[in-house]
Amino acid sequence: MFTTTTTHLTVLALLSAATVYCFYKSHRLRRLKVSSPSSNPNHSIATRRGKLFFISQTGTSKTLAQRLFGLLISNNIPFDLVDPNNYEPEDLHTETLVLIIASTWEDGNPPSNGVFLSKWLSESAEDFRVGSLLLNKCKFAVFGVGSRAYGDSFNAVGRGFSRKMRSLGGVEILPLREGDVDEGDIDKEFGVWSEEVIRVLKMGELRGNGSAFTGENGGELMNGSDYDEDDDDDYEDEGNGLESDIIDLEDIAGKSLSKKDMGLITNNGKKNGEKVMVTPVIRASLTKQGYKIIGSHSGVKICRWTKSQLRGRGGCYKHSFYGIESHRCMEATPSLACANKCVFCWRHHTNPVGKSWQWKMDDPLMIVNSAIEQHTKMIKQMKGVPGVTAERLSEGLLPRHCALSLVGEPIMYPEINSLIDELHKRRISTFLVTNAQFPDKIVSLKPITQLYVSVDAATKDSMKAIDRPLFGDFWERFVDSLKALKDKQQRTVYRLTLVKGWNTEDVDAYSNLFSIGNPDFVEIKGVTYCGTSATSKLTMENVPWHADVKAFSEALAEKSHGQYEVACEHVHSCCVLLAKVDKFKINGQWHTWIDYEKFHDLVSSGKPFGSNDYMALTPSWAVYGANEGGFDPEQARYKKERNHKSSR
Ligand SMILES: Cc1cc2nc3c(=O)[nH]c(=O)nc-3n(C[C@H](O)[C@H](O)[C@H](O)COP(=O)(O)O)c2cc1C
Ligand code: SF4
Repeated sequence: MFTTTTTHLTVLALLSAATVYCFYKSHRLRRLKVSSPSSNPNHSIATRRGKLFFISQTGTSKTLAQRLFGLLISNNIPFDLVDPNNYEPEDLHTETLVLIIASTWEDGNPPSNGVFLSKWLSESAEDFRVGSLLLNKCKFAVFGVGSRAYGDSFNAVGRGFSRKMRSLGGVEILPLREGDVDEGDIDKEFGVWSEEVIRVLKMGELRGNGSAFTGENGGELMNGSDYDEDDDDDYEDEGNGLESDIIDLEDIAGKSLSKKDMGLITNNGKKNGEKVMVTPVIRASLTKQGYKIIGSHSGVKICRWTKSQLRGRGGCYKHSFYGIESHRCMEATPSLACANKCVFCWRHHTNPVGKSWQWKMDDPLMIVNSAIEQHTKMIKQMKGVPGVTAERLSEGLLPRHCALSLVGEPIMYPEINSLIDELHKRRISTFLVTNAQFPDKIVSLKPITQLYVSVDAATKDSMKAIDRPLFGDFWERFVDSLKALKDKQQRTVYRLTLVKGWNTEDVDAYSNLFSIGNPDFVEIKGVTYCGTSATSKLTMENVPWHADVKAFSEALAEKSHGQYEVACEHVHSCCVLLAKVDKFKINGQWHTWIDYEKFHDLVSSGKPFGSNDYMALTPSWAVYGANEGGFDPEQARYKKERNHKSSR
């Protein structure tokens, strides 16, 4: 009897708990639906109101937020006052303007209404699959509320929000300001900050659409510094998501530009009668993203891995697979234009597209000299950054590798061979990636250190969906490009970018492509997520894990019946290398690395040579399955700080 009563009571308690839980969930869902901007399909980014978040336990921050909210409204600046509990962080990447007033509580933790948002930001900032441009549309400012009495954890929460938003690409329009509730300066500090906020926002309103946040030359006034600890760009040339308002040259013709911007360039993008590839609109946008534009169609950018290896924190996957020194690598392109609009290329909202070269052309010597000059300027800015030794800095100032893959299609540039000559003359190795739409250009290309073809899909239909090519005969061009690759004597690579649910099922179809181009190597990597947008629907679901990439690679190797084996991996980049066994596995040891000096000697000899003339032994730490996972043991592994108690 007693047992039955207990059982009944237990069942009753469970049912009540379940009911309360379901009610809570549905209530929360309803709240999310009401507050979530994504629930309204007509609510475009351009029309979104600013969001003013308060993160508060006992009401101090909430009161301050209400005060600022009143001020914003009286200044006709539309904002929503938001309790983060009622907000879905997945929507954050669609916000354009965010103000955060955040208190710090016990042990430097946020009050309960900010825990989820804070955790979501931390996880996103630390998840290397999430690109560092996730919040690049979002301008923000933070006011921290706390007490110095708590020592190192003073305002840890406000500081954490500022840092995490920056590391995800958010643009900080005002420096973080902090108030101390115990030292009585909170009202004064908050008053000053509020005035600043109103001033900056009104300035933006006057100039129109956020221009208040850009400096004279289009660069942000405040953003994560170039060498921010949390800077997390991924691959040098692709792979990120997708803010894809493609700017076609035709599209921007007629856009109104300021007289100053226009210079001698007319509305149809012509300078002195010649069409220029990088118009002021594109230039401003690329410059804002950190590209240094050279002349009228080339660009250079310092890559995240170059900074990382300068600091002794590890190189990119090309360091592991081929022995490049990432801190001596220059990432550049002589053509910012491309003939594809790939769904996973996050640069498409800025870079021009075209089917053939139709623009004013710059001299290759000028491009190479300016690229080196701009690159070394950026390297010099790393002086004094923790971990950068004098030795590595001086090495960095003498680039030895050029990754011609920054953005766009380098082989579209008619003088690409002369440009390669200029690089080789300086004993700079050349890694060029082409999108496989210009087979003739591949045929006429001079020997380079390593030639890549992007193989974004294995079938005609999936390629159309993924690359969104401009050419009607894109598949024929692709196949012809692979055939052209087969005739190359130097090192050749297929580069596969895996998008889960889009192209990961096609192992057989990919395998069939091997015999067409007969590449020396196949690089396989997972796509990097950078937010979902109206024109691109990738989500985190589409991002494969390293285990997925490994499984796919192993399956592909197996299909080759011993021709290829999995040779190397770089776990951090979710990247795996297949290599040709008969060429690169000698006496059971992989030789995927490159003898760069030998390569340059061979080039200057003027005699024919092949890929097996300049190979070198792969170190054990880079070989597939090694404990190091492709991380060079001579570099110091850097783990991001999880406890931000005394951060900043
Ligand atoms: C238990 C407790 C712990 C606190 N811990 C910190 C802290 O670690 N760092 C800090 O800057 N302020 C700390 N504070 C100060 C609070 O930030 C301050 O009381 C603030 O006014 C609370 O804001 P709220 O009312 O919006 O929640 C703490 C306050 C309390 C009561
Ligand atoms: S090859 Fe060069 S540009 Fe590319 S990721 Fe490595 S260091 Fe960066």
